[in-house]
Amino acid sequence: MKLLLLAGILFTISFYAYADIICAPGYTLVNESKCWQLFNNQTAESDADESCRQNGGGILATLTTAIDNRALLTMFNGTDVSRVWIGLKCTGLSLSTCQWDDQSQVKYSSFASGFPNDRFGQCVYYSADGSPQGQWANGPCEDKLPYVCELPTTSSDFLNCTNNYNNNCYTADNTTIEFSWAQKDCQTQLGNLASVHSYLENRYLTSLFDFDGSVWLGGLAPGAGLIVWTDGSNNNYYNLRTTGNGTCVSMDLHTDSSNGNWTSVDCNSQLGYLCKRYTCSSDGHCP
Ligand SMILES: *[C@@H]1O[C@H](CO)[C@@H](O)[C@H](O)[C@H]1NC(C)=O
Ligand SMILES: *[C@@H]1O[C@H](CO)[C@@H](O)[C@H](O)[C@H]1NC(C)=O
Ligand SMILES: *[C@@H]1O[C@H](CO)[C@@H](O)[C@H](O)[C@H]1NC(C)=O
Ligand SMILES: *[C@@H]1O[C@H](CO)[C@@H](O)[C@H](O)[C@H]1NC(C)=O
Ligand SMILES: *[C@@H]1O[C@H](CO)[C@@H](O)[C@H](O)[C@H]1NC(C)=O
Ligand SMILES: *[C@@H]1O[C@H](CO)[C@@H](O)[C@H](O)[C@H]1NC(C)=O
Ligand SMILES: *[C@@H]1O[C@H](CO)[C@@H](O)[C@H](O)[C@H]1NC(C)=O
Repeated sequence: MKLLLLAGILFTISFYAYADIICAPGYTLVNESKCWQLFNNQTAESDADESCRQNGGGILATLTTAIDNRALLTMFNGTDVSRVWIGLKCTGLSLSTCQWDDQSQVKYSSFASGFPNDRFGQCVYYSADGSPQGQWANGPCEDKLPYVCELPTTSSDFLNCTNNYNNNCYTADNTTIEFSWAQKDCQTQLGNLASVHSYLENRYLTSLFDFDGSVWLGGLAPGAGLIVWTDGSNNNYYNLRTTGNGTCVSMDLHTDSSNGNWTSVDCNSQLGYLCKRYTCSSDGHCP
């Protein structure tokens, strides 16, 4: 028993040691910790945000350290870009009125003096002009600027995962079936119906479908505030907005927006579905 446990621990360590950190196609690894892509077309902030969702399911770039801030300059190398939208908005004159698009508060900042200041606009751009380079300022959200999209890193997948995000592999299926059949089908693919654990993961999932309607997630909603996930993971993110006439959790999709509100519906309803499994390491090990 002890030997087995030890073997398990060693296996886990070697799995993490050998899993390659990668970025989605077109994205560049930044400080081994996040992935960025520069889009060099002049775009209003809300369109830039939607473009990030459609191009991989991400958000506009977040800059949480001085290393991030310097790294963004290197993305401009070889281009004519000097200003880009970043994923930050402010509604007042102090840092506490600003929020990153991943919904986190601002801890590190590189605002130019006199900023933040929403009188210039609520959106925030990064500038390579001026000295020092890499200062931030507010501007009108309708202004058209290039932009940088961000995704989390992930790990390479032995089974050539198509939708590889944050060390998980997702499959999106349009076929409409009952909840329990959808769960069974996900199990044949070595996974479960998808559990959701953050705002960012939820947003990513909305990018995998291209129709108006709803799809199964792997949640059961037995009571207010509680989701029981079929994959046994924690109930640490809650986005159930509408209680319908059942206890199985579905996600609402709209082609024209990133809406991903959840609704509990009759488990016998026929819906498309989302499966999720961990990525499998290059030696073929699937946790
Ligand atoms: C900018 O380019 C990206 C990638 O080609 C595209 O998805 C996006 O729609 C473009 N934005 C505009 C405003 O043309
Ligand atoms: C760089 O990434 C590592 C993780 O790979 C992280 O621990 C470190 O804090 C990052 N450094 C900065 C300054 O962002
Ligand atoms: C920009 O690219 C050139 C040529 O690839 C390289 O020599 C230079 O160091 C780069 N500058 C930055 C800031 O990355
Ligand atoms: C994954 O892709 C590689 C390279 O194209 C190929 O050699 C391999 O057989 C594929 N693996 C699976 C499980 O499809
Ligand atoms: C679902 O069906 C639509 C319409 O047939 C199709 O365009 C789309 O690619 C399908 N797949 C997903 C995951 O939305
Ligand atoms: C749930 O509501 C839908 C639409 O109102 C209805 O068609 C369906 O029969 C209801 N199911 C149950 C179990 O009440
Ligand atoms: C999603 O839920 C929020 C909170 O209940 C609500 O404000 C919003 O209108 C909903 N979105 C849609 C498209 O129903």
